[in-house]
Amino acid sequence: MILMDDIVRDGHPALRKKSAEVSLPLSEEEKELLNKMTEFLKNSQDEEMAEKYKLRSGVGLAAPQLGINKRLIAIYFEYDDKVYDYQLVNPKIISHSVQQAYLANGEGCLSVDEVIEGYVLRHYRVTVRAYDPEGNEVKLRLKGYPAIVIQHEIDHLNGIMFYDHINKDNPFYAPEDAVKIG
Ligand code: NI
Repeated sequence: MILMDDIVRDGHPALRKKSAEVSLPLSEEEKELLNKMTEFLKNSQDEEMAEKYKLRSGVGLAAPQLGINKRLIAIYFEYDDKVYDYQLVNPKIISHSVQQAYLANGEGCLSVDEVIEGYVLRHYRVTVRAYDPEGNEVKLRLKGYPAIVIQHEIDHLNGIMFYDHINKDNPFYAPEDAVKIG
């Protein structure tokens, strides 16, 4: 199983590389990797497992965070009584709203141990095209919190960290029409 020691931290070169597209269908090894990533997210949200293995709670994980520069992400969380459980290969934002959104408490990342304050402005709505582990095309239309999570994970595939989006001069700047979440 994946533990915190398997997650590379800020400063590791894998977090700043553009990851490579993966050929489909996935190899058994790549499928297993995604399953372990999903398992980690579930464990991290399970009080007993999290305490036993000292896991920080997470809702998404990208392969570069394990030092593997492949375009693979896993997402797992419950929000508004809906479960968001995705294993995505080569995800790409194919359209997005002009309107922006941000989390009121800022963002965090399993690869960043310290709290970095400030608003991370993202698209309020996104349409993402990706492939499932079997190679089937999936199209996701997400808004608000789930849209923010998927943008954070896709950023990891492009070597972008959440704090790159925080305004250096005015970390709590947000346009008036941006949606504040949480
Ligand atoms: Ni992250």
